[in-house]
Amino acid sequence: MLARFSFFVIFLRLQLGLAKNNYDIAIKSLNCQVIAKSYVNSLECLLVRQRTAVVSAKFSLNQTIEHFDVLATFDLMKKDKSRMNIADIKMDGCKYLGSMYQNNIVGKLFKRLKSVSNLPANCPVLKGKLYEIRNYTFISDEFPPGAPQAKWQVRLKMLKSSELVADISIEGAVVYNT
Ligand SMILES: *[C@@H]1O[C@H](CO)[C@@H](O)[C@H](O)[C@H]1NC(C)=O
Ligand SMILES: *[C@@H]1O[C@H](CO)[C@@H](O)[C@H](O)[C@H]1NC(C)=O
Repeated sequence: MLARFSFFVIFLRLQLGLAKNNYDIAIKSLNCQVIAKSYVNSLECLLVRQRTAVVSAKFSLNQTIEHFDVLATFDLMKKDKSRMNIADIKMDGCKYLGSMYQNNIVGKLFKRLKSVSNLPANCPVLKGKLYEIRNYTFISDEFPPGAPQAKWQVRLKMLKSSELVADISIEGAVVYNT
């Protein structure tokens, strides 16, 4: 509860533009998996650089999708390897594409992600088209100030009417510059 509250305070500070961070986002692993092959022809993710992380991804669909949801889970990995859940966010994927979430951190991160991709600005997401995210860099100033030096995991589940379509897992760490 306290962790969630402090996370919220951090979001608030970020929105006031007070962020100037002395850490890097490092990514250790990036895994993308298609669960429902009837929807997704191909999905490839590539970790281009680990520290100051850079990632690329591309996918193409087997069916035009008019509506989908994204379930994002954010965990901190404690020293004893247990997890502490910080946030579970369920979003309407189409609204997300349409930048309807601009006022939270997830929306802000996505805005820049769109600038290095050819993702559509709205649903539908078309079948047969190759969508790409090219060398998206994780810029720490866009993340919460004072983030704990810790390992974290983000899991993104893409859902089509509650059926799991694809699963993306990112493991990384906040590493302070000394
Ligand atoms: C792609 O979709 C078509 C029809 O929707 C289906 O017949 C085909 O098996 C699908 N491909 C895969 C790899 O599932
Ligand atoms: C991404 O960055 C890598 C390494 O800097 C470079 O080799 C590659 O050409 C870049 N890819 C694109 C699509 O810009």
